[in-house]
Amino acid sequence: MASGPLICDTEPWKNLKAHVDDVKKTHLRELLADEERCKSMIIDHDGIVLDFSRQQILKETIEGLFKLAEAARLKEKIDKMFSGEKINQTENRSVLHAALRAARDAVIYSDGCNVVPDVWSVLDKIKSFSESVRNGSWVGATGKALTDVVSVGIGGSFLGPLFVHTALQTDGEASHSAKGRELRFLANVDPVDVARSIAGLNPETTLVVVVSKTFTTAETMLNARTLREWISSALGAQAVAKHMVAVSTNIELVEKFGIDPNNAFAFWDWVGGRYSVCSAVGVLPLSLQYGFSIVEKFLSGARSIDNHFHSTPFEKNIPVLLGLLSVWNVTFLGYPARAILPYCQALEKFAPHIQQVSMESNGKGVSIDGIPLPYETGEIDFGEPGTNGQHSFYQLIHQGRVIPCDFIGIVMSQQPVFLKGEPVNNHDELMSNFFAQPDALAFGKTPEQLVSENVPNHLIPHKTFSGNRPSLSILLPHLTAYNIGQLLAMYEHRVAVEGFVWGINSFDQWGVELGKSLATQVRKQLHSSRTAEEPIKGFNYSTSTLLSKYLEAETGIASSTSTVLPRV
Ligand code: F6P
Repeated sequence: MASGPLICDTEPWKNLKAHVDDVKKTHLRELLADEERCKSMIIDHDGIVLDFSRQQILKETIEGLFKLAEAARLKEKIDKMFSGEKINQTENRSVLHAALRAARDAVIYSDGCNVVPDVWSVLDKIKSFSESVRNGSWVGATGKALTDVVSVGIGGSFLGPLFVHTALQTDGEASHSAKGRELRFLANVDPVDVARSIAGLNPETTLVVVVSKTFTTAETMLNARTLREWISSALGAQAVAKHMVAVSTNIELVEKFGIDPNNAFAFWDWVGGRYSVCSAVGVLPLSLQYGFSIVEKFLSGARSIDNHFHSTPFEKNIPVLLGLLSVWNVTFLGYPARAILPYCQALEKFAPHIQQVSMESNGKGVSIDGIPLPYETGEIDFGEPGTNGQHSFYQLIHQGRVIPCDFIGIVMSQQPVFLKGEPVNNHDELMSNFFAQPDALAFGKTPEQLVSENVPNHLIPHKTFSGNRPSLSILLPHLTAYNIGQLLAMYEHRVAVEGFVWGINSFDQWGVELGKSLATQVRKQLHSSRTAEEPIKGFNYSTSTLLSKYLEAETGIASSTSTVLPRV
């Protein structure tokens, strides 16, 4: 196996390690008093403003990070990604999610073939199919229009589309196009999720979209069989052809499942699951709900960031700066977590999506060449919309552990509300918190300030805020389909930058396999114990004990020979 040097052995890395002490000598209070410094740390692109002046960095830190990027051959790696080189070495694949939103006349090669015409042929097929469902020319088995869609998929085949759907739901233009239609998701193999996803729906007016890159994922396939049963028990087996379609790279398995391959929407192995929202994985369900023209705007927002990321010098490159700052926080300052805090309820599913994009990509223990790493990679991502988070976990962020925060704000609300007699409109009230929290974290509150406010002595330690807690702020002009695409691509590329610098493969996910194979062993045991009363064997003491307790209970449907569907 070819082994390159590790990034931690380079001079820029060692210099940044040594530089940490210089940074730690200064409090953010002092750094924020330097207007020249702050000015150099606020940049914008295509309506997005990024303010990273509240990071614990000096101007020299940025210079050091650029040198680190050079040592990591960041530019070369970005270029290789965009030119379709097989940078996902362990799976021998290109990494071309940017091609999913490329302009129709763009040329991007993988394996010597321009992939853009294939991308657009699927987009055209989605446009025409979604229009026929939406205008009622494609109808269900009983002749009724299909107004409701259940998208069945998990992980990358679920989280991205859910985030975009949740963000579009309250946008005026998008919600207008979605009138009378409903889009739901079924991800968890928990039968409770099945029950929730179909509660109140009529199979006659429901279209099921089975979304799975591999078409082998256990949870998705059982859920797909369950909804196939729901449809055929209500409408007959022949109804499946009208009520079920698929999105996959594995069209053979789609056909085996019983879905007409003409009703399958392809994507390709050069699209990672967690990077697939711009493929048919997201575009099909979202076009069924909102119409293709809205989804096209989402794709063009992502494209704008792709172009920016690929061609802008690092000094003004938003994803590059975001990625380098994350490396600084995780690796050099030693902060393992990051909070994603949108001051926007429509972005409530953004953090869960980024959790997968970031943690499945960068949670690695070896370099891309297979060398065990002497440093940690990845960060622990979590988040909630503000101000809900403020009333939940911000206590820890203000006075407990240091957690770098991403504050995301929107200038114009999707749903403005003004109440006569109130000092500000409702969106201003929300955004007051967006502007206040980063300063509270950065400046804190000193014992001297508390004394001047006559705070009793015994409360001073409790009411003191140390401050010096880093954050960055991202301001978007609106939250339209276009801006949602921008936000998505910004975070996708940020994660790639981090992985490129750490020298890992951000595009494989071997860490999810072990649990899957152990579950297969348990599944076999449950089957043999339920059907043939086979004793539990091959497990450790703890698992055997828990399994026997689980099997002791009479579930009522354990050995049933007839189908049981959710009752809700
Ligand atoms: O469990 C990991 C994973 O492979 C993810 O990477 C992926 O997004 C998800 O499972 C779903 O996979 P598929 O789309 O093949 O069903």
